[in-house]
Amino acid sequence: MVYAFAVPAKTLVVYYSYTNNVRDIVSELTRRIEADVVRIEPAEKGLDYAANNYAIGSTLISAIRDNPGDASSYPAIDPVNVNFADYECIIIGAPLWWSNMAAPLQTYLFHNGAAMAGKKIGLIVSSASSGISGVEGDAKRLVPHGDFLSPSLWIRSSQTSDASSMISEWLKTIGYVSMTGLKDISVDQNTGKYTVFSVSGAKVAKDALSLQSLEKGLYIVNGKKICLK
Ligand SMILES: Cc1cc2nc3c(=O)[nH]c(=O)nc-3n(C[C@H](O)[C@H](O)[C@H](O)COP(=O)(O)O)c2cc1C
Repeated sequence: MVYAFAVPAKTLVVYYSYTNNVRDIVSELTRRIEADVVRIEPAEKGLDYAANNYAIGSTLISAIRDNPGDASSYPAIDPVNVNFADYECIIIGAPLWWSNMAAPLQTYLFHNGAAMAGKKIGLIVSSASSGISGVEGDAKRLVPHGDFLSPSLWIRSSQTSDASSMISEWLKTIGYVSMTGLKDISVDQNTGKYTVFSVSGAKVAKDALSLQSLEKGLYIVNGKKICLK
């Protein structure tokens, strides 16, 4: 006998925010989707990136532009612990600095972009007015094997307070719901194994699971509540 389960795929939102526009956008986003959220913080506290016509921010971006392959070009950030195997989709929330991705977020992706290979990557960018192609270029350089969702979502600072409908539209456009919606899990009662399939039919997990005592009802699989019918 084979039981059928359904379990949502997991999403990670990773962002940086200096003046909290991206933070507010991420709060709106996570009212709509279930996700774990990580906020990147620079190791050096209290810097005013905007003072003197964005002097510090500009210096940080120039250092990366001059030598993007060198770890020492990137400002230190507080350590963050993420197990990428837990996630199928990663949404990156980025402020734009001088047409590039804000430097602390670049640091994070410089060190972790390779671990995001094959993941669906969504990009949300906040800028005062500049177009976001430079930030998209940074994301693709730093996550070279990411499966980027198109288009990215560009929200200008002045639109932050009514980003809600833009986020909803974007989630529809990139097919977020059908992509991360329900995965089918088939369970073979005889072998006690379960196999997890993504909506596209790819096998994503196979493990031992004792099914001897399972009754119909709610269970937790991969940290999610599922309903055994
Ligand atoms: C160092 C620095 C450089 C910036 N450069 C630009 C820029 O070139 N063009 C632009 O439209 N906005 C620029 N901005 C504005 C930010 O992109 C904008 O305020 C964004 O909403 C900030 O997001 P946050 O509040 O999450 O930090 C810059 C901001 C900073 C701090």
